[in-house]
Formats: sequence, C-alpha cells, structure tokens
Amino acid sequence: MVAEKLGKTPAQVALRWGLQMGHSVLPKSTHEERIKDNFDIFNWSIPEVLLAKLSEIEQARLTTGNFSFVHETFGPYRTVEELWDGEI
Ligand SMILES: NC(=O)c1ccc[n+]([C@@H]2O[C@H](COP(=O)([O-])OP(=O)(O)OC[C@H]3O[C@@H](n4cnc5c(N)ncnc54)[C@H](OP(=O)(O)O)[C@@H]3O)[C@@H](O)[C@H]2O)c1
Repeated sequence: MVAEKLGKTPAQVALRWGLQMGHSVLPKSTHEERIKDNFDIFNWSIPEVLLAKLSEIEQARLTTGNFSFVHETFGPYRTVEELWDGEI
C-alpha cells in the first residue's frame, strides 16, 4: 500500500524506512535491476503519516549479536547491554 502510494517497490520502501529510522541498511542483490532500485532511495522520502503507519509493524531483532560481537575479553563490547546501548 505504501509502495503503491509512493510509486516505489516494497523493497525500496523497506530500505528507505530503515534509513529514515536512523539505521544503516546493507542491501545485497545478484540482480542488476534490484541493485539499481536499491540505490534509488536517497532523493525521496516517506511522508511522516506513512512512516508512522509502517512503524506500527511489530519489529523484532533476529539476533542480539551475543555470538558475534560480544566477548568477555576480546573486542569492543563486553555485554549485550553495552552493544545495544541498554536498548535490550
Ligand atoms: N547478515 C549479516 O550478518 C552480515 C554481516 C556483515 C556483513 N553483511 C553484508 O551485508 C550485505 C547484505 O547481507 P545479507 O545477509 O543481509 O543479505 P543476503 O541475505 O545475502 O541477501 C539479501 C537478499 O535480499 C534479496 N534482495 C536484495 N534486493 C532486493 C530487492 N530489491 N527486491 C527483492 N529482493 C531483494 C536478495 O536476492 P537477489 O540476490 O536474488 O536479488 C537476497 O536474497 C552483504 O554485503 C553482506 O556481506 C551481512
């Protein structure tokens, strides 16, 4: 619905939503057209009212990062709380 309203693909809306939420998004595709689409997210934005609608979709983290980024001795983060700045 949001993508149709904006004349964009659902993937572009998802990537742009990530940017507008302040996240770093790292799209990767093996298809030339998709790669071009994935780059085309910088010169437009999702209006606030639609952004709020998208933000109603419940979000969940796929990983807390405790296996990759947290170690009691090595690396920059000692705890999951430290990695996520206390968010989780
Ligand atoms: N995931 C990690 O933990 C991690 C960690 C460090 C670095 N990275 C880097 O982050 C980048 C992304 O990795 P990832 O693991 O998130 O990606 P991924 O799972 O390897 O691939 C992304 C998936 O999204 C699809 N896709 C991309 N653009 C699309 C579009 N516009 N429409 C529909 N489908 C689309 C791709 O399909 P098609 O190829 O068929 O288009 C692919 O199946 C990579 O460069 C990776 O090296 C990832």
